[in-house]
Amino acid sequence: AMAEKGGFRHFMLKEIHEQPQAVLNTIRGRVVPETGEVRLPELGLDEAAVRALRRLSIIACGTSWHAGLVAKYWIEEWTGLPVEVELASEFRYRRPLLDGQVLAVAVSQSGETADTLAGLRMAKERGAPVVGICNVVGSTVTREAHGTLYTHAGPEIGVASTKAFTSQLAALYLLGLYLAQVRGDLDAAARREKIRALVAVPGILEGRLGAWQARCRELADRFYGCRDFLYLGRHLGFPLALEGALKLKEISYIHAEGYAAGEMKHGPIALIDREMPVTVVAPRDHVYEKVLSNMEEVRSRRGILIALGEEGDEALRQTADHVVEVPRPPDPALNPFLYAVPLQLLAYEIAVARGCDVDQPRNLAKSVTVE
Ligand code: G6P
Repeated sequence: AMAEKGGFRHFMLKEIHEQPQAVLNTIRGRVVPETGEVRLPELGLDEAAVRALRRLSIIACGTSWHAGLVAKYWIEEWTGLPVEVELASEFRYRRPLLDGQVLAVAVSQSGETADTLAGLRMAKERGAPVVGICNVVGSTVTREAHGTLYTHAGPEIGVASTKAFTSQLAALYLLGLYLAQVRGDLDAAARREKIRALVAVPGILEGRLGAWQARCRELADRFYGCRDFLYLGRHLGFPLALEGALKLKEISYIHAEGYAAGEMKHGPIALIDREMPVTVVAPRDHVYEKVLSNMEEVRSRRGILIALGEEGDEALRQTADHVVEVPRPPDPALNPFLYAVPLQLLAYEIAVARGCDVDQPRNLAKSVTVE
């Protein structure tokens, strides 16, 4: 059993460690770093159709939905196109505005999630071009979408999604750059920089996995007995907070909530006490100061602060009780890749410390093929 896990104790841990390779596999052959060109012929979209787009509608569930939320920030910034990120189970029972000028993007690791498929079919019926972002080759989403961008992350066995998430991020990042390229929103120099930054991600992850795991194990030893966790972040850190909380609740059964840091005052601040760890995604981006002041508010209520932030950030050290150091990427757009991994490891180590069945958490399925 250990052999099929490549010497790792669980599939989830193996898959966490496979992320540098998974992200590389998603990028490979699709970019020309020298020219800033992104090549995605598999989308099956002609350039006139891309130029005519007025909106994107990303449809997904669970962790794949979180990947879509990250992509919204990227794609709106790069293309100026509005991006809606839809929970497939809600989308399918609304009357969403769809037509040939809305690109529907169904994001699904398995390509078999019932709600995502229903959303995809609805979009197709209403004349929207549909792109699938999938990991499983030949899955239903890939057969029904007009084009599929495969993530090529390799089989994901652990029920809680890890490498599929970061490879979905890479695919969505490429999709965003591609749209910006065809529509003329980002020039070659800008795209070259964004591609260079993305290409650096696998190496950065590879160099940090060991240290992150050791650090997360220390934190797990301290906090595995907690009943509740709050996760906070802003901008790109917000979907990461949602994903960090989801990972923790899925595999450790600790109640965890992800929140937009700016919304803390509208509710979760009432929960803060000496017992509850607050995990904050705090890279030094344009909302960093705001996040820091949210942390001060937690601190003044004696909450326990675990911050994920940039190495060498002294202000963060002063404010937080515990810091997980993350390197500064060449472009803040890359932060989601870098923060996702320690959040996964924190959940993993806590679940292991609690003696949970990490790869097969109770009540959960790898893919939800019935409604
Ligand atoms: C289940 C899995 C999650 C996954 C979600 C969506 O809930 O446990 O890990 O994110 O389904 O699955 P999909 O295959 O559509 O990405």
